[in-house]
Amino acid sequence: MKICMIGSGYVGLVSGACFSDLGNTVTCVDINKDIISNLNKGIVPIFELGLQELVIRNLKQKRLFFSNDVSNSIKRSDIIFICVGTPTKKNNNADLKYVYNVVKKIKSNLNKYKIIVTKSTVPVTTGDKIEKILNTKYNKNKFDVVSNPEFLREGEAIRDFQYPDRIVIGTNSHKANKIMKNLYLPLIKKGSRYINTSRRSAELIKYASNAYLATKITYINEMANICEKLNIDVHDVATGMGLDERIGSRFLRPGPGFGGSCFPKDTRALISTSNKFNTNLSIVKTVIQSNDNRYKLLINRISKILKNKFKNRKITFLGVTFKAGTDDMRESPALKLIPKLLKKGAIINYYEPTGSKKEFISKKIMCNSNIHDACKNSELIIIHTEWNEFKQLNFKKINKNKNLKVFDMRNLYSPSEMLKSKIKYFGVGR
Ligand SMILES: NC(=O)c1ccc[n+]([C@@H]2O[C@H](COP(=O)([O-])OP(=O)(O)OC[C@H]3O[C@@H](n4cnc5c(N)ncnc54)[C@H](O)[C@@H]3O)[C@@H](O)[C@H]2O)c1
Repeated sequence: MKICMIGSGYVGLVSGACFSDLGNTVTCVDINKDIISNLNKGIVPIFELGLQELVIRNLKQKRLFFSNDVSNSIKRSDIIFICVGTPTKKNNNADLKYVYNVVKKIKSNLNKYKIIVTKSTVPVTTGDKIEKILNTKYNKNKFDVVSNPEFLREGEAIRDFQYPDRIVIGTNSHKANKIMKNLYLPLIKKGSRYINTSRRSAELIKYASNAYLATKITYINEMANICEKLNIDVHDVATGMGLDERIGSRFLRPGPGFGGSCFPKDTRALISTSNKFNTNLSIVKTVIQSNDNRYKLLINRISKILKNKFKNRKITFLGVTFKAGTDDMRESPALKLIPKLLKKGAIINYYEPTGSKKEFISKKIMCNSNIHDACKNSELIIIHTEWNEFKQLNFKKINKNKNLKVFDMRNLYSPSEMLKSKIKYFGVGR
């Protein structure tokens, strides 16, 4: 099939490369000229394991193309995936301007029957609105608007695309459903479940799933808070809970709170939608509030660890991305923690496996190219992101300071082992 991915970021690029690997002819388009020029040279603009190889392989096979020419790419394709960003507006609504800009382009270039698929996460009824816009120029047999929410996780994106738990297709059109099912057939044959539902249901499935996962994370973070008061290890609680099949063990790891490009914005957008339709999603509201406040609790913990003295004290962050396996800084907890610590007078060093971050350009923040330099002379090491390379550190070797303290926000180490090594160690919920 001839496919066009509009927006070549985390979702458009990964799914475009994966669709081409299944034998389709895919053009990934973007308005960003640098992204496309680099991609044409096989240079991938994001950190995602295995993506560069996948892109190069399919470029060479001439199944994968990159272009800034949105109009021609639309004309040449049978299926158009909208994969542009849907960030949060100031009023907490999802900002759909990128989506509607694409719809405008599609409207001017619809030269034959096409399926227009929203892979971007869009509020319920967005598909209805897109259909209405196209209907002002074309009759209904010229196109179908389908919702196909994307569930891939950064850091595991290729695997998630190739082996999804489920493929959700929201459309009432038999024709569009047949074509979409055919497109996903190689994945269905490998065992992925395929669900055809209404477009609105598909749109809501995405938000409901993300809000539920955000709730699970927040729930265990709150359990961690009470565990700290009661001298209980939250991991014992999580293990005991997770063995109940109705609950499941995933997403029961406490940490600095959820971040990234999806959970924060999607929970907020879901609340906006619920307000619009006069429904009180009180659980999701509480989850947002609890997560927004989490950094304050963590700052209090740091304050206790440093005995409330921050001035000129060197703190090292190991990892600043919101999770391991990605270079995505959007809504990372570090973006709240580091400025607060700086304000209190601390000096921040960090080491991030995916390199320095433009968000932290300040004289008081130093990005180091290795763990040793970042931790040298530090008084407190904060393990912020659960990268593998932070899991077996010899703290005594990387930092000679007898008073070194380690605050492990991901509980990567065993408190008893750290005690044996005489390292002042603090975790979350234990
Ligand atoms: N990142 C994830 O893990 C993830 C997972 C599932 C769903 N989603 C959803 O997918 C959507 C895209 O997310 P992302 O992380 O890939 O975003 P992104 O910011 O990485 O990429 C979006 C790309 O779209 C391009 N773009 C914007 N307007 C355009 C236009 N008119 N024409 C062509 N290109 C245009 C931008 O230049 C950018 O490169 C969002 O709605 C997001 O919620 C993201």
